[in-house]
Amino acid sequence: MQDFHYRNNELHCGDLAVTTVAQSVQTPFYLYSKRAIADNFRAFDSALAGLDHLICYALKANSNDAILTLLSSLGAGADVVSGGEIYLALKNGFGPGKIVFAGVGKTDEEIKYALEQDILSFNVESKQELEVLNEISGRLNKRARVELRINPNIDIHGHPYISTGKSENKFGVDLDSIPALMASLKAMQHVDLVGLHCHTGSQIMNSAPYLATIKVLSALRETFKADGIELTSIDIGGGIGVQYENVLTADPPGRSDPFDADAPDRILNPLVPELAKLNCKVIFEPGRALVANTGILVSRVLFTKETRGKHFIVVDSGMTELIRPSLYNAYHDIVPLKQHNGEVIRADVVGPICESGDFLAKERALPRLERGDLIAVMTTGAYGFSLSSNYNARPRPAEVLVDGKEFDIVRERGKVRNLWT
Ligand code: LLP
Repeated sequence: MQDFHYRNNELHCGDLAVTTVAQSVQTPFYLYSKRAIADNFRAFDSALAGLDHLICYALKANSNDAILTLLSSLGAGADVVSGGEIYLALKNGFGPGKIVFAGVGKTDEEIKYALEQDILSFNVESKQELEVLNEISGRLNKRARVELRINPNIDIHGHPYISTGKSENKFGVDLDSIPALMASLKAMQHVDLVGLHCHTGSQIMNSAPYLATIKVLSALRETFKADGIELTSIDIGGGIGVQYENVLTADPPGRSDPFDADAPDRILNPLVPELAKLNCKVIFEPGRALVANTGILVSRVLFTKETRGKHFIVVDSGMTELIRPSLYNAYHDIVPLKQHNGEVIRADVVGPICESGDFLAKERALPRLERGDLIAVMTTGAYGFSLSSNYNARPRPAEVLVDGKEFDIVRERGKVRNLWT
């Protein structure tokens, strides 16, 4: 659900004018809609209603405590990729029995911590990791539940940095290695293989890669079954994409209701009958689909300048607050908090960082903005704050959660004196 719209020419989050927040919170700051996060989760959950399922939210998308507490209270599980994320999940109400742990580089300390917490499963990415897990688990007198992460060599045709399911990627176990792995598994006393896992990439806009994945995993389950190993779960990963362009237009092409443009059922519905055939527990690990469209980055224009006919709008946030444009050339809509009807110019929206790669938008059609004007960078609830940095000794921005007409600062702006601790 998208909860941002203009009312009386002012950008609102639900019923709250965003400028009201900017009067008391220093820019730049992230602002999230509590209602939209809950609605996104419920929409995802109801799309899977016919299945025995668990939605494990991928903490890496946004691990603000208030968002995690909200999602755990709605019944979500957690997909984590480090000991730190296990800690955050537990602290914010996710039961250990709902935590799945992926990642190609788990340290011994992280494995030990996860075993002590008795998490739902280790999503194991290599034979060596399995051996180490078996050994540590034995030493601690535990048994680890394992989902084997498969690399199915499926191309999602997305940005190479966020594609993870091709054989050239570091993730998962390739299909050719499965027979040898099955043989060594039999000798392992301290791991129980319970399922198969796959995450082929991110910002996927159609069902095809998922259907192809289900086919691969389903055939593999049969192979295990023939070998006497009954698998009770299948984890399809995350990756469901969202709309980044024209998020505020009244009527995006092909959709009658703009707030439905990101509805997950468009991608999930075709998968449900295929997953139902497997007759086992199904896990999804959405990150972006639950939070991306629920957040904006609010920023202030510091200066405007023109160099040989090229316009620059210099704002008080950049690649330190939102690295997606610099890292993936990602597109985010940028809109003024107060709607302008005046002249439209083409400009680069850039930050204060000492890098030419520090930009939020290139050659973007925007109203002619003035020093002091406020803008919102849209659809930044996922991989915004969580990928922020302190480069150039910049404190991280505050985070604000809007609930109806109220708002709370759910993370204070960082302090320069704490940057190096
Ligand atoms: N599960 C696993 C194992 C993952 O590696 C990821 C994301 C997810 C779930 C959640 O994917 P999502 O539903 O959010 O697409 N920084 C990039 C995205 C990197 C995603 C990494 N893994 C971006 O800003 O687009």
